[in-house]
Amino acid sequence: MNATISEVKNYVGGEVTIGAWLANKRSSGKIQFLELRDGTGFIQGVVLKNEVSEQVWEDAKSLTQESSLYISGTVREDKRAPSGFELTVTGLSVIQIAHDYPITPKEHGVEFLMDHRHLWLRSSRQHAILRIRNQIIKATYDFFNDNGFIKVDPPILTGSSAEGTTDLFHTKYFDRDAYLSQSGQLYMEAAAMAFGKVFSFGPAFRAEKSKTRRHLIEFWMIEPEMAFCDHEMNLRVQENYVSYIVAQVLKNCANDLKAIGRDTTKLEKIKAPFPRITYDQAIEFLKEQGFDDIEWGDDFGSPHETAIAEHFDVPVFVTEYPTKVKAFYMKPVPGREDVVLCADLLAPEGYGEIIGGSQRIDDLDLMKKRYEQFNLNDPSYKWYLELRQYGTVPHSGFGLGLERAVAWICGLEHIREASPFPRLLNRIYP
Ligand code: 4AD
Ligand code: MG
Repeated sequence: MNATISEVKNYVGGEVTIGAWLANKRSSGKIQFLELRDGTGFIQGVVLKNEVSEQVWEDAKSLTQESSLYISGTVREDKRAPSGFELTVTGLSVIQIAHDYPITPKEHGVEFLMDHRHLWLRSSRQHAILRIRNQIIKATYDFFNDNGFIKVDPPILTGSSAEGTTDLFHTKYFDRDAYLSQSGQLYMEAAAMAFGKVFSFGPAFRAEKSKTRRHLIEFWMIEPEMAFCDHEMNLRVQENYVSYIVAQVLKNCANDLKAIGRDTTKLEKIKAPFPRITYDQAIEFLKEQGFDDIEWGDDFGSPHETAIAEHFDVPVFVTEYPTKVKAFYMKPVPGREDVVLCADLLAPEGYGEIIGGSQRIDDLDLMKKRYEQFNLNDPSYKWYLELRQYGTVPHSGFGLGLERAVAWICGLEHIREASPFPRLLNRIYP
């Protein structure tokens, strides 16, 4: 019977054949222990010299790290084995003997590992992280589908910028100019006016010259957008969503969290509602903490975000930032032109901003004024203004950076491990 390692539990006492790679091998005299992996798990294959043919014994001996093979054996329950099962090998067919696999069980430097990212993905730690990433993606789809949202896919090639022009990736679109999407938001606003509640999940590109442990050049973003939704309702969706993905990871990825050594007591505290402070209060707080490099009106740097977040052991919303440090589409706080109805959600433990969101300007005249101020009166933004012209409604939305969320939930030192093939300032290989 063909089976994967995760399926062998269904065949105790029976014989299975598994397609696998050799992760490691030990031998002592007349017995060889093969540590096998197939992507679904690990299992030990035991080869007994007296019980297999000469050929099988010799083939097993020839196996090197990452050699590929089909292996047959009888499934035995073994409480001491990490997977709970063992394979008493009966047959073995080598697909390829791998020579000089570069990633050995010894320690390697980060640059070396990044150069071999295509192989590093096979290690159990990277596996656990990317499985948790997958769980967050699944929980995202479940949360939004269960709450009446429709997934709508915004374009990747765009003629306009959503988040300002400083970090746009430029490309040619035949004989015209185009950009890689920084955010699907503007299109999601159009979709919200058609469907009410929508969400997207897609890549975003930022040509940011930042070399930090929080920045990727290419990352994935989840962007919900809701019609008839104000700032307050927007924050409630965010805290419920973040609490839900953390709960799902705790419930379904216990082994993966253990494999990467994550302190789960910190995650168990993540439950809505989350605390909130205004930008005004945050500035005051930072001054009290002795930060003299920040004035009202400045955007926060990561030391500021970390100082604020350290004050709480759950994510915290910083609300109502100055209008001038935020995007053109954010709605001012009623009665106060200098701050907007927005929030950044800062993760605990120094992981920084995981969500940026806001209530959007729904007033046609104010939006026209912003078009003047931001020089948006070119044909590529015409359609966005029309959303305020034909049945405008209060609406809000947000964007969660997937890799930032993965880095925080997994407790990673650097965001690079949160992406299978990270694009960094100095790296587009492999
Ligand atoms: O705060 P940002 O720039 O907001 C937007 O793009 C809005 N249009 C979203 C919306 O309201 N629909 O980005 C949103 C999130 C950030 O909070 C962060 O988690 C992530 O995207 N992000 C990055 N993640 C990794 N590397 C980068 N360079 C990132 N830039 C933003
Ligand atoms: Mg932001």
